[in-house]
Amino acid sequence: MKSKIVVTGGLGFIGSHTVVELLQNNYEVVIIDNCSNSSEAVLDGIYNITGIQPVFEKLDLRQKEKVIDFFNRHNDVTGVIHFAASKAVGESVENPLLYYENNLNTLVYTLQALEHTAKANFIFSSSCTVYGEAEELPITENAPVKPAISPYGNTKQIGEEIIRDLAQVKPNFNAIALRYFNPIGAHQSAEIGELPIGVPLNLVPFITQTAAGLRDQLSVFGNDYPTPDGTCIRDYIHVVDLAKAHVVALERLLHKKNIQDFELFNLGTGVGNSVLEVIQSFEKVSDQKLNYKIAPRRSGDVISAYADTTLANDVLGWKTSYNLDEAIASAWKWEQKIRNKNTD
Ligand code: WQD
Repeated sequence: MKSKIVVTGGLGFIGSHTVVELLQNNYEVVIIDNCSNSSEAVLDGIYNITGIQPVFEKLDLRQKEKVIDFFNRHNDVTGVIHFAASKAVGESVENPLLYYENNLNTLVYTLQALEHTAKANFIFSSSCTVYGEAEELPITENAPVKPAISPYGNTKQIGEEIIRDLAQVKPNFNAIALRYFNPIGAHQSAEIGELPIGVPLNLVPFITQTAAGLRDQLSVFGNDYPTPDGTCIRDYIHVVDLAKAHVVALERLLHKKNIQDFELFNLGTGVGNSVLEVIQSFEKVSDQKLNYKIAPRRSGDVISAYADTTLANDVLGWKTSYNLDEAIASAWKWEQKIRNKNTD
């Protein structure tokens, strides 16, 4: 009997890659997505990779009654991986209530719907953004959570606290929050990948869209930071490595290996790369020059953030296998694939 896992936001960038890994590990998957930032066509990509068409229910998790009904119909669920959330930092500053409603109500309604399941194993998509500008690098899970610099980041902090509070009082509810560093790249098949809507906010899709001719020029937001080459440093993790970590974390709960009812893990490579190093990586793997300029700093950017991966490696038993060049090459292959598809 296959174990049934619900993946909320399962048509999204990280969600779809995690669905592929779950299917390839013989789990039954039910995807919930409201398609506000994703497309049902992603199901075709998942099918082309795995040969399996997972059950998909288009559902807005802000509709509490529908969420309760869903989990009543799927009361044999053994685990939930919760990706569903809005994630644009800048948009969250302009429209905070949209983010508090979407990212927190959906989490609370999903958790309430699980109240009646015999055993709930819950994986929460969190972010290194909770650390802000960390005093010490690399960043460990014990680093202080800083006052959020955006409502988006605040919803991740509050989300972790909601889950921690529930795990402390609800028997048979176990949870793991995964704090992602910077997810990039795409599945090597180029059947699924990142589909930013509009002008990309993140570095790597902006690079690949510039190289593909969709954007005129990349702006490097500041080269006067106190770093070796003056540009900000981040921990860029291949999305497939990240997806595999979700299966490992889920199985830690399913197999009752967790030590606490609520656990936290940083998910990164442990390597910090600057913006200019990412550009150099792209130029190397694509064998083409990138058109970029140095522009003013972007408000809210931290100078440097990269993970201490000790806990994930030694306790979770997971580590990354792709390096920066491989991740960038996969992002470029995906960009070329979707551009060719759009011109076909
Ligand atoms: C990386 C670096 C920019 C674009 C964000 C969210 C985080 C997570 C990942 C969701 C920075 C520079 C970027 C550009 C640039 N998302 N940059 N020109 O800000 O580290 O993290 O995305 O969970 O929560 O905060 O990622 O890719 O936007 O920026 O120079 O056009 O690239 O200044 O130094 P970030 P990013």
